[in-house]
Amino acid sequence: MAKNDLSKRDGFTSKFGIIAAATGSAIGLGNIWKFPYIAGENGGGAFIIIYLVFIILIGVPVMMSEFIIGRKAKQNVFGAFKQLTSHGFWKIIGIMGVLAAFLILSFYGTVASWTIEYLILAFKNSFSGKSADELATMFDTFSQGAIKPVIWQILFMALTAYIVIGGIKKGIEKYTKILMPMLLVIIIYLDITAITLKGGVEGFRFLFYPNFSLITSESIIDALGHAFFTLSLGMGVLITYASYFQKDTNITNTSISVAGADTIIALLAGLAIFPAVFAFNAEPAAGPGLVFMTLPNIFELMPGGYIFSILFFLLLAVAALTSSISIMEVVVAFVSEEKNISRKKATIFTAIAITITGILCTLSIGPLSHIKIAEYNIFDIFDILASNILLPLGGMLISIFIGWKMKKHIITDELSNYGTIQLKFVKLFIFLVRYLAPIAISFVFVHGLWDILIN
Ligand code: TRP
Repeated sequence: MAKNDLSKRDGFTSKFGIIAAATGSAIGLGNIWKFPYIAGENGGGAFIIIYLVFIILIGVPVMMSEFIIGRKAKQNVFGAFKQLTSHGFWKIIGIMGVLAAFLILSFYGTVASWTIEYLILAFKNSFSGKSADELATMFDTFSQGAIKPVIWQILFMALTAYIVIGGIKKGIEKYTKILMPMLLVIIIYLDITAITLKGGVEGFRFLFYPNFSLITSESIIDALGHAFFTLSLGMGVLITYASYFQKDTNITNTSISVAGADTIIALLAGLAIFPAVFAFNAEPAAGPGLVFMTLPNIFELMPGGYIFSILFFLLLAVAALTSSISIMEVVVAFVSEEKNISRKKATIFTAIAITITGILCTLSIGPLSHIKIAEYNIFDIFDILASNILLPLGGMLISIFIGWKMKKHIITDELSNYGTIQLKFVKLFIFLVRYLAPIAISFVFVHGLWDILIN
């Protein structure tokens, strides 16, 4: 018998498990590390409004599309398209997805290793008494080193692999059901502390007061690219997860809940960070170093900063872990189902391979920083290739597949759970995946290519 008999396929056991796993994938470094700094660089409120529009009009329909494909096919991202269409072209989505998983998990592992280091520094109260310059040097010295970041990265990937080896019920569902509520409690504590800071009101204003004069075409493209990244769209994470959904999982409601929770957490992360940034006169547009260089400076000034700093980096680590397992799962499901080998072997093989590409990313900050294409090091190239090209292209093909290729009755069957729940917004959904999503995404895609070609 084949090791991967589909009738014995692993799967989620509860609605809460599905929400925990899917929000666990969506809520990650994208929400807590990336969103605050790109919102900061793009002027705050107005950027956030545009980002919200993209989440609603493009993010949710593409997410529903991935869920429909995954639950219908009940296979990994590559197998899914083999199953749903005889036309070989669509397998390209699977190939791109697996490739994107490698690239994203590589640089994700780099930032996750920084997070582990900073969690330890926070415990040891190492930010205390240091000037802004000293803290910046501390980050540079650590991140440009060769030993420590690599060790933390190996540790992080091992932890990710440990959860993935357990499978869906006994691994991913089990751990995300514990970690996601924990994340919520931590972020609420951080928010309560942050918004009571004197001078924090400016931070609110920055996040919620829209100043459209700060918006450029660049910001619009960043907003769409980030909407994809933060919802884990375009590379088959959600196709893979939906392949483990239950028969009665409500696809429309699940998509809305996941997108809603992801957005709320991004805003709560902004609310935990910006009041403090403004209360202590730091620079909101500090870029990727915002949470590693600016925040430690603030922690040491604010009351209760010691506990706050530990919880903040713990939050970041938990968010990174629940996203990483979803990315690794895409590759593991692919390797184990397509090559017909056990989950354990597939996970070990995948984890080792991604750790190697990940180490290249980590070393590209320091020892390998001379390896560049144009001005970009390996870390940047992986990020650009995945976020600006593979994800938008994958998302566009997925929406075209659902909008133009998939039989309408399969879509309505999946959305209505074979007639057992009332259909909502189907016409709107079809319109969005047929026209709006592919057109809007192709703008980002063309821009991504353009960006690379002219640099
Ligand atoms: N969404 C996660 C975040 O915001 C990252 C992530 C997980 C991801 N899976 C993905 C991004 C798939 C793109 C594609 O940090």
